[in-house]
Amino acid sequence: MKKILIIQGSGRANGNTAQLARSFANGAEEAGHEVETVSLIKNEVKGCLGCNLCRYGKPCIQKDAFNPLVPKIKEADCIVFAFPLHFWTISSRIKAFIERFYRIAEEDDNPPYGRYEKYPMNDCALLMSAADDNFWTFENAVSYYRMAIVRYIGFNDKGMVLAGGGGDTNGKPQIDKTGYLEKAYRFGKDLYRG
Ligand SMILES: Cc1cc2nc3c(=O)[nH]c(=O)nc-3n(C[C@H](O)[C@H](O)[C@H](O)COP(=O)(O)O)c2cc1C
Repeated sequence: MKKILIIQGSGRANGNTAQLARSFANGAEEAGHEVETVSLIKNEVKGCLGCNLCRYGKPCIQKDAFNPLVPKIKEADCIVFAFPLHFWTISSRIKAFIERFYRIAEEDDNPPYGRYEKYPMNDCALLMSAADDNFWTFENAVSYYRMAIVRYIGFNDKGMVLAGGGGDTNGKPQIDKTGYLEKAYRFGKDLYRG
């Protein structure tokens, strides 16, 4: 049994991303994992101010949802980043959340090339939705995920579901007309299957 924390970064509580995250959660729960979903709408996390106080042992001065989330982030075996594609890249809510990882960094006496600190992170996964579904639709966002979240912060990537073709936000979410809810369910169910 693993602890899975889903960070749901869409503004639409029942939109494409929320449905994708729910399907993933259903699969993971069915496989026996403990799943918690945190919405960044209900739990607003602002971008990093760059004050650097956290680098001098002080808690983050911002009074938003991030500090209370830190124990959950550290305890999770897997953090699932779920968000929609906005202007061909990751949406701003999830970017703000990731920026605040700065506060979790720990000193590293022997950092690998190109990294200055270490992060006590485990596994991660990516769930994204978008209106388009071309072969290049998610290129920017996946590149950011691989570079910042996996290579720099140091998460171990467990995979992704890139759910394109869910329609734009002008009207009802269309993700149920694609095969991606089933894919997300399977992904959640098989995440830790040998
Ligand atoms: C501000 C904004 C920018 C968007 N940019 C893109 C985009 O660049 N490419 C794309 O395919 N869809 C884009 N979309 C559509 C959403 O990614 C898509 O409808 C998504 O599934 C919405 O997820 P949600 O229902 O969870 O909000 C955009 C939507 C919004 C609101």
